[in-house]
Amino acid sequence: MVKLDSVQQQPEEETPAATGRSVATRKLYIKTYGCQMNVYDSQRMADTLAPLGYRSSETPEGADLILLNTCHIREKASEKVFSELGRLRQLQEAAAEQGRRLLIGVAGCVAQAEGEEIVRRAPQVDLVVGPQTYHRLPDLVTRALGGESGRRLVDTDFPAESKFDFLPEEAAPPGPAAFLSVQEGCDKFCSFCVVPYTRGAEVSRPVTDLVAEAERLVRGGTLEITLLGQNVNAYHGEGPDGREWGLGRLLRRLAEIEGLKRLRYTTSHPRDVDDELIEAHRDLGKLMPYLHLPVQSGSDRVLAAMNRKHDAGFYHRVVERLRSAQPDLALSSDFIVGFPGESDQDFAATLRLVTEVGYAQAYSFKYSARPGTPAATAADAVPEAVKSERLAMLQQLLGEQQQAFNRTSVGKRMQILLERQAKRPGQLAGRSPWMQSVVVDAPSRLLGQLAEVDILDARPNSLVGKVVTLPEEQDEMARPDVSPKVLGITA
Ligand code: SAH
Ligand code: SF4
Ligand code: F3S
Repeated sequence: MVKLDSVQQQPEEETPAATGRSVATRKLYIKTYGCQMNVYDSQRMADTLAPLGYRSSETPEGADLILLNTCHIREKASEKVFSELGRLRQLQEAAAEQGRRLLIGVAGCVAQAEGEEIVRRAPQVDLVVGPQTYHRLPDLVTRALGGESGRRLVDTDFPAESKFDFLPEEAAPPGPAAFLSVQEGCDKFCSFCVVPYTRGAEVSRPVTDLVAEAERLVRGGTLEITLLGQNVNAYHGEGPDGREWGLGRLLRRLAEIEGLKRLRYTTSHPRDVDDELIEAHRDLGKLMPYLHLPVQSGSDRVLAAMNRKHDAGFYHRVVERLRSAQPDLALSSDFIVGFPGESDQDFAATLRLVTEVGYAQAYSFKYSARPGTPAATAADAVPEAVKSERLAMLQQLLGEQQQAFNRTSVGKRMQILLERQAKRPGQLAGRSPWMQSVVVDAPSRLLGQLAEVDILDARPNSLVGKVVTLPEEQDEMARPDVSPKVLGITA
């Protein structure tokens, strides 16, 4: 899972509010922590507030409403919220001195887990909204503006209705690469994890709604869609035929959308990789050959204690099946070191698994005991120093694998979706089919396009490439699925 510590909302264009009525413009700043689902949710929160006149801004200064969309996954993540609230209090006081009202809201997984405590500990917070109730934000904000405060403005229900049925259409144009939440919640109950408590039970959105949302994104210029879910391959939404569709079938349907060039999905559980999904990897040119398939540990004993519901052998077999369906597939994973009771032998098994599987990228964390999860009360905690030592060893190995993978890209020609300005002027940054960051010299008019790029060099965390011009016809013929729009640049 990509870790986005504080992804800011992109500024939106000054478009009329979704209601069509003219309303006074108010400034909204959303700070997003945690996973991609929070990034998606932040965009949807901005959509719900657009009819009230709120427009997203890149900075908190001068904001009328600040929302922290929070993450509860590890202790550090949730602590950040309280320190940020301290800073925001000063901003709120400064606004009050200028005669302005600054509303502060807490959303996301910390809100869900600690809503009442937030209100108690942080009186500057005007409202608290959980991940399943943010379609009610306009009402909460209106009530907060009307002077209501405290407990009554904590909405962390798991409502019977689905928020997705109440969200307005996107207020801002989508980017070249967009997220689409297809599934939420988790029924797996890994013993270390807060997600089943903060996000609730697994729910899948109907196929028809997802196709409509994907088509809207593509009409708005999106070329790549990443399907999101805490356990995305447990997707089991209602199909247009009234039957239950799995993720493989959904991907197949979405791949039919003309103009959509790339599909990805995250985050998957090894237990839910079924034949249809493997066949999707075999058959769909639009499905990128990169998969985040977290394993957490290589030790059967630890995997059992984590309640992951599979052993290392099972994981290896899933990987083999995927790789024989799609030989170009590169993998990434999440790892936890220092889970209670993890011995040196257990940790050695993790290193062995990493060596055997070979990852293009990976995220690794020290185990963090989370209140309310079964593992939190385990007696055999691993000392912090041992966790740090193991983390460093694992990261060393994963880093070497990542660099080796990146080196194999040098000399290859690949399609890069140019998503953003790079740090240096005159350069754009994008992503390869394998999620590598690639920097190229290119004018900004190529932003949002798929470019054919020759990879010249590999740096530890990114690749350096050169945009090449190919005769459009030749490329259309060779790969109708992924024809680049980029022309006009001579190599
Ligand atoms: N649904 C995904 C993971 C969601 S959480 C899955 O099943 O893999 C993202 C990652 O955070 C997890 O994969 C795990 O590596 C890490 N994580 C979750 N809880 C943690 C905890 N208590 N301590 C340390 N890392 C944790
Ligand atoms: Fe958490 Fe496990 Fe569910 Fe992933 S599968 S969200 S780690 S409980
Ligand atoms: Fe964090 Fe909640 Fe995502 S706990 S990782 S923001 S589901």
